[in-house]
Amino acid sequence: MYGLISQALEDYVRRGFGERAWNEVRGRAGFGEEDLFVSMESYPDELTFRLVQAATEVLHQSAAQVLEAFGEHWVLYTAQEGYGEMLSMFGTSLQEFLVNLDNLHSHVALTFPDLRPPSFEVERIPGAAQSLLLHYRSERTGLAPMVVGLLRGLGKRFSQEIRVQRLERGAADDHDVFRIDIIETTGAPRG
Ligand code: HEM
Repeated sequence: MYGLISQALEDYVRRGFGERAWNEVRGRAGFGEEDLFVSMESYPDELTFRLVQAATEVLHQSAAQVLEAFGEHWVLYTAQEGYGEMLSMFGTSLQEFLVNLDNLHSHVALTFPDLRPPSFEVERIPGAAQSLLLHYRSERTGLAPMVVGLLRGLGKRFSQEIRVQRLERGAADDHDVFRIDIIETTGAPRG
């Protein structure tokens, strides 16, 4: 995955747990101080997953906890790293944004040519205007908890209080589905 992801993970650990925690995560994952991730460079997924694994050990959290918290942080991080305008371009509400997510990643792919993005599909629930099903497809496994965090982060960004539920996955299902209920919209979206 692109270095931007690892940099965001570093930022999450540093801000939340301090420099020392990050140094330990980096060390346990087998990287030295001089090993820097470049945001626009693509690395084997295994390197990114090594960082996540090390973070679970250092922070005493499960992989699901780390990925969920990281997903929430990602929304803030990308906004700070110059992608805020892009986030604003693709919707003014969570619902609209989710419908446009694949377009967002296609747009990202213009500058990240080796991008292997996930794909999202919104399914309306008849009779439930404030609820929707989100289908998430990825060539990677294990990242569904990150999607839960991403959705929470987006809810905050759009000032929408939401409930997110990952639906039970049957043996025959080839992808994850999330149910999102919009409880309340409290204000204007953050710019
Ligand atoms: C402007 C904001 C964003 C940028 C610049 C961005 C960029 C990226 C990049 C570079 C990757 C790594 C993929 C690779 O290297 O092959 C990625 C993965 C991913 N992105 Fe985005 N993204 C953005 C917003 C979002 C949002 C809002 C979501 C919300 C659901 C999202 C969902 C994901 C997921 C789940 C992955 C993990 C890869 C996978 O599932 O296979 N992204 N994105």
